Amino acid sequence: MKVNLHPNTAPATDADRAAKIAEGGFGKYYTDNMVVAEWSLENGWSDAELKPYGPLTLDPATAVFHYGQEIFEGMKAYIQPDGSISLFRPQANAERFARSAARLALPEMPTDFFVKTIEELVKQDRAWVPGKVGESLYLRPFMIATEVGLGVRPSNKAMYLLIATPASAYFNAAKAVTVWISTEYVRAAPGGTGEAKCGGNYAASLVAQRQAAEQGCDQVVWLDANERRWIEEMGGMNLYFIKGSGKDATVVTPKLTGTLLPGITRDSILSVAADLGYKVEETMISIDDWRDGVASGEITEIFACGTAAVVSAVGAAKSAHGTWTTGDGNPGPITQQIRETLLGIQHGTIADTRGWNVKVC
Ligand code: PLP
Ligand code: COI
Repeated sequence: MKVNLHPNTAPATDADRAAKIAEGGFGKYYTDNMVVAEWSLENGWSDAELKPYGPLTLDPATAVFHYGQEIFEGMKAYIQPDGSISLFRPQANAERFARSAARLALPEMPTDFFVKTIEELVKQDRAWVPGKVGESLYLRPFMIATEVGLGVRPSNKAMYLLIATPASAYFNAAKAVTVWISTEYVRAAPGGTGEAKCGGNYAASLVAQRQAAEQGCDQVVWLDANERRWIEEMGGMNLYFIKGSGKDATVVTPKLTGTLLPGITRDSILSVAADLGYKVEETMISIDDWRDGVASGEITEIFACGTAAVVSAVGAAKSAHGTWTTGDGNPGPITQQIRETLLGIQHGTIADTRGWNVKVC
């Protein structure tokens, strides 16, 4: 399987592109090109086509519109000090995409083919990669069920698409986010799709996100479905709790139980925090541990992490059980150190000892 190149012959002008990149934000403007590949049960995967970014034409009875058979990924391309462009752990995204596909009864895409599509789009649209640390080109690969018909069954046709958008901060790094711990809604239950990156998980989360906003909070924190007690994750990010301070601190994250999304940033931070000399722990953390740990001062910092948001401090937490604030409500020193170390590795200013960065062009 290869990627056939038919790029946009009328790309954005330098001035237009520069203005769009300078505007910052997340997911507002898209690059000149996209990649599309099709799959059918009879013929497997087609070659991929890199072609001008543009709308799709789909029959209204296409499966994805009715039963939500869709998966996606999120990853970033980063500018390096020598002007080259690297991807961060693309193989990990390719593997998670394959696992999500298996869970959603979609076809698994060979991981090499997946990574190849990403590399070709980044090479083609490299002028869209922003030049500052903390900025990047966000890549959004996704797959939809394209069989036409209303029968509820795994689609025998699928389409893979890849789009890209210049990204700056998802949250303001200087400010801690406030969270609403939902005891009414759950994101994922055992046996469900919590471990998969599928659109349906996000659709089901929006009413709680709206509730969070009504409570004056930025994000929702999810508890487990059975006991509504164990902390799982936050919106589109995993969570970390810091116990103690200085070199004796322990960096703790909720254990992967099958209902959390196994974040690549989460996984990377387990290594980064250990390299920085902290004890790291994956364990169950309850809402009571959070409230009591903050009250006693044992929990000194909390942050959320993910591709889009990198590392963002969590300040005040609100729930049906009360409101409490970690530390002084501002980003703490270990959060900032981990954020800067991770960004440094991604941008090539701190040694990448694990071969996480993959140079594209
Ligand atoms: N949890 C959820 C629900 C997410 O959507 C994401 C974002 O991708 C994450 C966690 C963080 O995952 P990653 O670090 O791989 O981006
Ligand atoms: C990401 O961090 O890549 C995400 O997918 C989070 C959110 C934008 C859905």
